[in-house]
Amino acid sequence: MSRKILVTNALPYANGDIHLGHLVGYIQGDIWVRYQRMRGNTVHYVCADDTHGTPVMLRAEKEGITPEALIGRVHGEHLRDFTDFGVAFDNYHSTHSPENRAYAEDVYARLQAAKLIDTRAIEQFYDPVKEMFLPDRFIKGECPKCGAADQYGDNCEVCGAAYAPTELKNPYSAVSGAKPVLKTSEHYFFRLSDPRAVAFLRDWTRGTNAAGTRRLQAEAANKMKEWLGDDSTSDGENTLSDWDISRDAPYFGFEIPGAPGKYFYVWLDAPIGYLASFRNLADKRGDIVVDDFVDAAGAEAAGTEMVHFIGKDILYFHALFWPAMLQFAGLRTPSQLCVNGFLTVDGAKMSKSRGTFITARSYTAQNLNPEWLRYYFATKSNGTMEDVDLNLDDMIAKVNSDLVGKYVNIASRCAGFIAKRFDGKLGASDSQATAAFKAAFESGVIAQAYEERDYGRALREIMHLADLANQYVNDHKPWELAKQEDKEVQLHAVCSTALTLFRDLTLYLKPVLPSLAEKVEAFLAITPLAWKGEWQVLPTGHAISVYAHLMTRVERKQIDALLDANRESLAPAMTEAKAASSQQRHAEKQQHAAQTAETASPHISIDDFAKVDLRIAKIVSAEHVEGADKLIRLQLDIGEDKPRQVFAGIKSAYDPGALVGRFTVMVANLAPRKMKFGMSEGMVLAASDPDGTSSGLYILSPDAGATAGMRVK
Ligand code: MSP
Ligand code: ZN
Repeated sequence: MSRKILVTNALPYANGDIHLGHLVGYIQGDIWVRYQRMRGNTVHYVCADDTHGTPVMLRAEKEGITPEALIGRVHGEHLRDFTDFGVAFDNYHSTHSPENRAYAEDVYARLQAAKLIDTRAIEQFYDPVKEMFLPDRFIKGECPKCGAADQYGDNCEVCGAAYAPTELKNPYSAVSGAKPVLKTSEHYFFRLSDPRAVAFLRDWTRGTNAAGTRRLQAEAANKMKEWLGDDSTSDGENTLSDWDISRDAPYFGFEIPGAPGKYFYVWLDAPIGYLASFRNLADKRGDIVVDDFVDAAGAEAAGTEMVHFIGKDILYFHALFWPAMLQFAGLRTPSQLCVNGFLTVDGAKMSKSRGTFITARSYTAQNLNPEWLRYYFATKSNGTMEDVDLNLDDMIAKVNSDLVGKYVNIASRCAGFIAKRFDGKLGASDSQATAAFKAAFESGVIAQAYEERDYGRALREIMHLADLANQYVNDHKPWELAKQEDKEVQLHAVCSTALTLFRDLTLYLKPVLPSLAEKVEAFLAITPLAWKGEWQVLPTGHAISVYAHLMTRVERKQIDALLDANRESLAPAMTEAKAASSQQRHAEKQQHAAQTAETASPHISIDDFAKVDLRIAKIVSAEHVEGADKLIRLQLDIGEDKPRQVFAGIKSAYDPGALVGRFTVMVANLAPRKMKFGMSEGMVLAASDPDGTSSGLYILSPDAGATAGMRVK
């Protein structure tokens, strides 16, 4: 019987770029979905941007745009990146959506009805300048254990200590720099300490789903035991604390019904976003019954599954809060959590200075093939929570030897003979040579490895078959048969057999390499490969199409260029630049440094500098100036009665519409100057190349929290 599965991937935050670390879990999810579909199962695969919370709010403010504008832009970028890497969601929605608000309010109301919502006053750090409560990550200070400066409010990056933000010495707000004060406010809590919740979770985290599969991987289940305690050792004892689900205004999120000024904490509505994306898909499609997947009774009757792919850092949310929320709201609980480990690059944490904090965008901008990465990540995935190392030399070696050297090589050595000598038509396959392939298909070992998300094992089996296929071609040497007139029949059989084996390998690789597989389907002139029914050979007389090159080798210099493009010292615009060799890049950088040094000005005194009155300005309007091809007319609020008019020569780099609402820095005491188009009452600051001729122009922005009229010194 075919399965009906709702599959989700963690919703990426809407305040950052997708990087290769993110892609580990998305690629693992996408491979599983493609595999399930090839088996004939029905899968709905959804994701969305996780848009709410303080970081998004502050980031938007810093860019001088609304949170809605920010999340709209990022949504487009994220969707483009996933599409580029073949991660093909059926729907990519947003948590800032009507569907999500409706679900969040509904879940909350049901938890309230179940008497699982409480309120209580709590005391927290508050930024008196910015007038907002500060999340832990926005409070900095000296580590209470080792004294290291500038540590975050939750843990110390120097000594690793974990603590409460109130324990920091000399705390300050990372938003405004102000000294935070303690302030009390009322918060809403989900009562996880309730015995019903603890009992449910102990049972749920250990159990299996309807199909008999464990809901959590072994390591994840062990972690849960640590968090939940064991019945045997702590019988009846509450080991969970209640979960704070509200945040005070100002907050970008959904206001809690009946609680003005209180918002749902982002982690309440984030996982609900899975359901919202699914509902939005169902509304668009019209043929999906939402309750068959979402309602507890409906899902049980319909026998559907819900499977979440997540990274290990968010296990806590998905294995405790989320199932408990669903359970006590009368909704279906997850069938399975598939948790991936973290990505390291060449054995170390991704690093901006080493250039290993690689964005998805930079990878495609350098014209690297996304399927190289999909393949490499798949070889390193084993269905556990272990970290995944992207070893760049190993990736080059594996892609070149497995995919280009073994797999593609089979087709490239045989296709030409079929085209030239046999009019593009296949002959009979050699059943002795195909026997091992037939047996592998029937044994189901590769299928099982995919099902268990042990893609590394699946690919080892597949490459073993590829070795057999190459062995077969090497043993029969079609290129020699082709030179002998009386060997036509053998030549035809060998090439046809090899292409049948190649077709089989493509079937197995298709979940990992969908676009390569599509090219092969076109070359072999076959319908999309499905993993069902009986094992088959390509039939005698079947006409194939012309062989076109399938995949190129990866070169080390392409990887070096990628690292260079991601090295933090380079201007962001460089990541868009065309691939250049690393030596060239290096030379450019040195030259650039030399230029900057040459053009640095002679010293001035602090008094000279103090004469310049620099102010934070808010751009209240921006428009093109008729008859001027370089200028934009700006109205700048610097806290005076009326805005200043400034003409800025930035038309080549900015669209006026994108400037409105942004903060920048202006020289406020520059003598007003009468221009052809009107008075210019100051100057905005912008960065450009030393010689000012080349493309880039970048106006300055202050950090979040700066307000119009602040002095810059
Ligand atoms: N917004 C939350 C998830 C909400 S789900 C209801 C979030 N976003 S994230 O952008 O930080 O991460 C998205 C996914 O990428 C998560 O599964 C996270 O674990 C994963 N990863 C982020 N960085 C990663 C690595 N460096 N390595 C592997 N996975 C990583 O968490
Ligand atoms: Zn410390």
